Order: sequence, then C-alpha cells, then structure tokens
Amino acid sequence: MAEADPRGAILITGAAGFIGSALMRRLRHRWPKRPLVALDALTYAGDRENLAPFEDDPRFTFVHADITDADAVQAAFAEHRPQVVFHLAAETHVDRSILDPLAFVRTNVEGTAALLHAARGVWSDTPDARFVMVSTDEVYGALGPTGAFRADSPLDPSSPYSASKAGADLLALAWHRTFGLPVIVTRCSNNYGPRQFPEKLIPVVVGRALAGEPVPVYGRGDNVRDWIHVDDHADGLIAAAERGQPGAVYCFGADNEQQNLALVHRILDAVDAATGRDVGHGRGLVRFVTDRPGHDFRYAIDAEETRAALGWAPRVPFAAGLAATVRWFIDNAEWCRRRREAAKRFEEAWYARREAR
Ligand SMILES: NC(=O)c1ccc[n+]([C@@H]2O[C@H](COP(=O)([O-])OP(=O)(O)OC[C@H]3O[C@@H](n4cnc5c(N)ncnc54)[C@H](O)[C@@H]3O)[C@@H](O)[C@H]2O)c1
Repeated sequence: MAEADPRGAILITGAAGFIGSALMRRLRHRWPKRPLVALDALTYAGDRENLAPFEDDPRFTFVHADITDADAVQAAFAEHRPQVVFHLAAETHVDRSILDPLAFVRTNVEGTAALLHAARGVWSDTPDARFVMVSTDEVYGALGPTGAFRADSPLDPSSPYSASKAGADLLALAWHRTFGLPVIVTRCSNNYGPRQFPEKLIPVVVGRALAGEPVPVYGRGDNVRDWIHVDDHADGLIAAAERGQPGAVYCFGADNEQQNLALVHRILDAVDAATGRDVGHGRGLVRFVTDRPGHDFRYAIDAEETRAALGWAPRVPFAAGLAATVRWFIDNAEWCRRRREAAKRFEEAWYARREAR
C-alpha cells in the first residue's frame, strides 16, 4: 500500500494548476509528514501563487520543469525518489486543443511517456510505489440522453484533448502490463472549485457576470456535464493511491448531471445573490454562439464500483459547493482579473479563427 512508508516523498505533476493545487492541500491534510515535490512548467495555466501556503514548509520542494524534458524528469526522480506520483500536468482546454493539437500530443502523450520511463528507472526496489495517472471521462466520447460511463466503457475520444489523454492512459496501462509499473488510472467528470483557470465554464461565467459582459453559451446550451467538487476528486485520487489495484481504472463522479444552460442560469443567479442584484437579472447576459466542433453531447459517470472498491464517496453538495466557488471568485477578483487577461487573448484568437471560416 502507498501509505506504508510515511517518509516516502510524493511527486505531484501539474501541482500549480487547478486540481493539482487542490490535491496539494488535501495531501498535506491526509499525509502531514510526507515530503511534497511539486513539478510544474508554469504554463499559462499554472501559477506558483496557487501554492503560496506551502512556500515556507520545509517538506515542500518546487521543481520548475517541463514533463516533455526527459532529462529534467529523470533528474527529478533521481533526486527525490518519490514513492507516489500523482500525474496531473497536462494541456487541458478542449478549445485550445482544436487550435493547437500538437501541443497536446507533446505534453499529454510524450510528457506522460517521459514520466513513466523515469518512474521505471527508480522503482525496481520500491514495492509500495504507485503512479496515479489522472485522466478524464472525456476519453469515453459522447453519451446519448441515457446511460453512464463505467471504467470498462470503450474509449472513443472526440477532441485532440481527449484523444491525447486516452493515449496517455494507454501508455500508462502498457507500462503496467509490460514492465510491471504500479500504475493506477483515474477518470473523473468535470471539476469545479476555487482557482480554476478562467477559460473553463464556471469561472468564465462568474467573471463575465461580474463585469456585466455577454456570457457565451455553445449551441442552445443543451449539452450535459456531470459536475464534481475538486476536493472530492482530490480525495478520490488519494484513495486510489492508498487502496487502488495496480493496473486498474477508477471513475470518479458525483451523480450531478447539469444541462449547460441550466448551470449557467444557476451561476448567474448565484452571482446576482452574492452581489445584491435582483436574482434573474444576470440571465439577460446569455448569448448563444456557434457550437464547438466535435462537441460531445453528454457525459455521465457511474462511480458505484469505484466507491465500493476504494471506500470513497463525494461529500460536497453541489448547491453549497457552487455558492462557495462563486464567493471565492468574487473575493479573489485580482487573481481572476490577471488570468482573465491571458484567457481573453486566446478567446479573441478562437472567435476570430471561427468567424473567418
Ligand atoms: N478540470 C477538469 O474538470 C478535469 C477533469 C478530469 C480530469 N482532469 C485532468 O486533471 C489534470 C489537471 O487538470 P486541471 O484542470 O487542474 O488543469 P490546469 O490547466 O488548471 O493545470 C495544468 C497544470 O499542468 C501544468 N503543465 C502543463 N503543461 C506542462 C508541462 N509540459 N510540463 C509540466 N507542467 C505542465 C500547468 O502549468 C498547470 O499547472 C489534467 O491531467 C486533466 O486532464 C481535469
């Protein structure tokens, strides 16, 4: 079991991003004595500020490295000899993967291979090691109006993002079958919570509502996503490292399907409530825009087997989690403003390219 050696270091790739920085907080709570090694390239999506509470902790080390740099990755493994790896570093925005797919192949596929290769190099004498490959339900493609993905559902990715994540998952499982690397693959539904980069739906809607700007909604807003709070996902990842079987796939979800338009209305109402405006006023900001190519209609996760196998269950009720998330973005307006600048540069390129077609 991964918790056998309480001194073993934990390596978290992508630790300066949204889920990585939430996982860091949950790890410190769960395993307070273990060294935490955060490895991150600090792309536009990663920010050391997200790790501010760790900077003075003697058990914390930050490695500024790109996972596609195989030498740097091997050096990090050789120096820190982690017992557990949580691999989250990735290019993650589906729209960006449509404009620049090769960047996704490089980081998500080649970067994952570099990590697996380095882990294999140091783990021959580490029986309790675990490599948790953090993936997404998007690798399964689209669902119709009914049904739900399970761990053994066939892979059928639609976007360069989800295809690159599926490629990474298959590499990880191959390293298990071929080399015996103790890999565990996890696939989670859509996350929400504090510090999510404001190019993703919930922080985009909050930011635009606060600024009184139009809120774009793809198509007619009838696509469906299954939402889970980032802390529940992080706790699931820790449970997978502690109790998961090497070679297995686990799916995390919170039985919380929302149609996009209904979710956007809920967020706008929550912003209205939090800012003292008449609830319902913000709904007038919605603008329907041309749908994203290859836009999966619906995702839903059946997490029953994972719950039973890992003794894990989501705990954050959606209404409370969403209200707290909206509050966090309002209370951290400066954090959001700086990142919105970067997000807007991409949005302008995205809409200009699509109008030119
Ligand atoms: N956000 C979701 O809803 C969701 C759902 C399921 C799975 N996931 C997966 O969880 C992981 C984290 O997602 P997120 O939403 O926190 O992403 P994010 O975009 O907020 O953060 C990604 C992090 O990876 C780092 N990174 C990117 N390229 C890198 C490289 N080449 N080398 C080193 N570091 C690099 C970035 O600097 C950033 O800190 C991803 O693997 C993603 O596929 C996300």
